[in-house]
Amino acid sequence: MSILRSVVRGVGSYLPAEVLTNADLTKIVDTSDEWIVERTGIRARHRAAPGEFTSDLAVAAARAALANAGLEPSDIDLVVVATATPDHTFPSTATEVQAKLGITRGFAYDIQAVCSGFVYALTTVDAQMKAGLAKRALVIGAETFSRILDWTDRTTCVLFGDGAGAVVVEAQWSAGTNDDHGLLAAHLRADGRFWDKLYVDGGPSTTGVAGHLRMEGREVFKHAVTNLAEVIEVLFEQTGLTGADIDWFVPHQANRRIIDATGRKLGIDPAKIVLTLERQGNTSAASIPLALDAAVRDGRIKRGDLVMLEAMGGGFTWGAALVRW
Ligand code: UT7
Repeated sequence: MSILRSVVRGVGSYLPAEVLTNADLTKIVDTSDEWIVERTGIRARHRAAPGEFTSDLAVAAARAALANAGLEPSDIDLVVVATATPDHTFPSTATEVQAKLGITRGFAYDIQAVCSGFVYALTTVDAQMKAGLAKRALVIGAETFSRILDWTDRTTCVLFGDGAGAVVVEAQWSAGTNDDHGLLAAHLRADGRFWDKLYVDGGPSTTGVAGHLRMEGREVFKHAVTNLAEVIEVLFEQTGLTGADIDWFVPHQANRRIIDATGRKLGIDPAKIVLTLERQGNTSAASIPLALDAAVRDGRIKRGDLVMLEAMGGGFTWGAALVRW
């Protein structure tokens, strides 16, 4: 059998210069380093500078991914930005990124699946590659959650950070086995009954302003491990692989306790879990490509490694993707 697979050619990321530590946050809200570290594992997060937009973070990550792939912007015929914090209501941030990179061919759009955005984007791009719509894509997760946080709400403002990560994927003919490089399997889910457990209380059609993030953290936490394990188990069934076959587990970085519990449930060796949340917080759609870039740059993820990606977020949306690097 011969099938088209989306193979990762390069990865890159960008974090804004300003770092906010837990100690900094104790000056803004009634919190403590102990509470934040114990409940989440987070010690610091980055914040975009005034005038630095989601598209700027995305472009910096995209340039790094293109350099890592040895490609030029003109080699790209699809730009997808997963974001819940677009520069403007419209057009898509992806078209702004396309323009800033000087790309004038192909097509571009945003994906809105909040923290699951990167997994949704990669899976959607893969389907479009298989349909022959594009040959080389930039798949970017980019967020400026600092702009939608209520900085008086200690239950949310300590959790999130700004950043961007990107991969370049290329359609390549492959044998159709688990040994192929590229996206081997993916599974996406959503259940909109839970939309108001994690949402932003504004928008163009409701209040006319961007609004602020609201979350019932305990409710999200309650569903997270079950939902994440469910989609990963679907991938194990589809591929015949198990937790023991995974070289690197790259989860969405929301909470250390969710990540550890999911890993335990799936029999994944804790030494194989890539963690970035300690220094970055929850960067929503950017967290998986940021973690991928960190683990590729420090030599952990190598060509041929089997990498499991997973995320859950507002909606609820959730999903997992299995990639051979
Ligand atoms: O990325 C998208 C998906 N998002 C997630 O996966 C987030 C999932 N949820 C979580 O990670 C956790 O629920 C949180 C980290 C948000 C909260 O942890 P928790 O263990 O569920 O705490 P809690 O909400 O049950 O709050 C416990 C206590 C409360 O006080 P009382 O009511 O027990 O007196 C809170 O008011 O901790 C208090 N609290 C804080 N205290 C100090 C809440 N936030 C803070 C804070 N500092 N920043």
